[in-house]
Amino acid sequence: MKDALTIVAIVLGIVDLWVTIVVLRSKIFAPVQKVLQLLIVWLIPLLGAILIYGIHLMTRPRPEGQGAPNGVATPAAPPPPPQDEESLGGDEKHLYQPLFVPWLAQPEFQQYYSLASRQTVVSVDRCYTLYTLLLQAASMPGDIWECGVYRGGTAAMMAAVLAAKFPSKRLYLFDTFQGMPKTDPSNKDWHKEGDFSDTSLEAVKSYVGYSDTCIFKPGFIPDTFAGLEANQIALAHIDVDTYHSVLDSLAFVWPRLSVGGVIVFDDYGFPTCRGARKAVDEFFASDNHRPLCLATGQAIVFKS
Ligand SMILES: C[S@@+](CC[C@H](N)C(=O)[O-])C[C@H]1O[C@@H](n2cnc3c(N)ncnc32)[C@H](O)[C@@H]1O
Repeated sequence: MKDALTIVAIVLGIVDLWVTIVVLRSKIFAPVQKVLQLLIVWLIPLLGAILIYGIHLMTRPRPEGQGAPNGVATPAAPPPPPQDEESLGGDEKHLYQPLFVPWLAQPEFQQYYSLASRQTVVSVDRCYTLYTLLLQAASMPGDIWECGVYRGGTAAMMAAVLAAKFPSKRLYLFDTFQGMPKTDPSNKDWHKEGDFSDTSLEAVKSYVGYSDTCIFKPGFIPDTFAGLEANQIALAHIDVDTYHSVLDSLAFVWPRLSVGGVIVFDDYGFPTCRGARKAVDEFFASDNHRPLCLATGQAIVFKS
């Protein structure tokens, strides 16, 4: 296209020069007619060239994020769709919204999640992370711990998974079951004493079930850890939202976590739980392990 336009411009230029010479040498035209003829001969192609150049500037592809010619910023062009998008069956396209949401395609997870969803404040993506890590970590030596049970949603999900797949594993459940104890705003706690008090030990026990493998430890963390010093832990779900509760849980759990085991911090990335993040960051500041914050807001640490 560019080459064709260049050839047209050269040909037009030669024709215009030839016409100009002919007109200037002509004895038929008066001087005013000559000027008018030359104006027409040169102006029309000139205006045409300006028009074509303008269209070219408006339509040429621009690098991502660069402003339009008129200076108005344009959003970066979206990345091209993956080559194999077309090959995805219609029944798989809904799994990308826009990122992959694998739990939609896993009826087994949906079944377990239905136990959590009725009594949890933990979103489906975080439940899926916890479920996936539980399936892996339950093969490690040790028990499964949850600090922060509230109404028993995530606990019920984990209890059912363990009963079906790892029946010898015990699930320890720690909470006041009466709501948040005193919190510490000077350490970035946003929650207040008494939050999450719309629950009870009896109601949660009956909801979670599996009384032979679920061990309830009602009361204040870390007091309720007493007597469990010899325990080994395969996975700990720490979901207590506040600075001291996270730090106290972590200080007790970490030395007892099996190599290959994992801690899932539910609330690390949430603006309402900045105290929880502070506790995790402080704890691991002098350690080689690095908490990995997920897009879900959780952070996970595998013990190596
Ligand atoms: C966000 S809720 C837990 C959510 C639960 N995992 C779910 O599935 O919905 C936080 C819980 O941590 C408990 N908690 C916080 N600090 C505690 C402490 N020091 N001792 C005992 N329980 C504590 C609160 O009572 C509250 O029930």
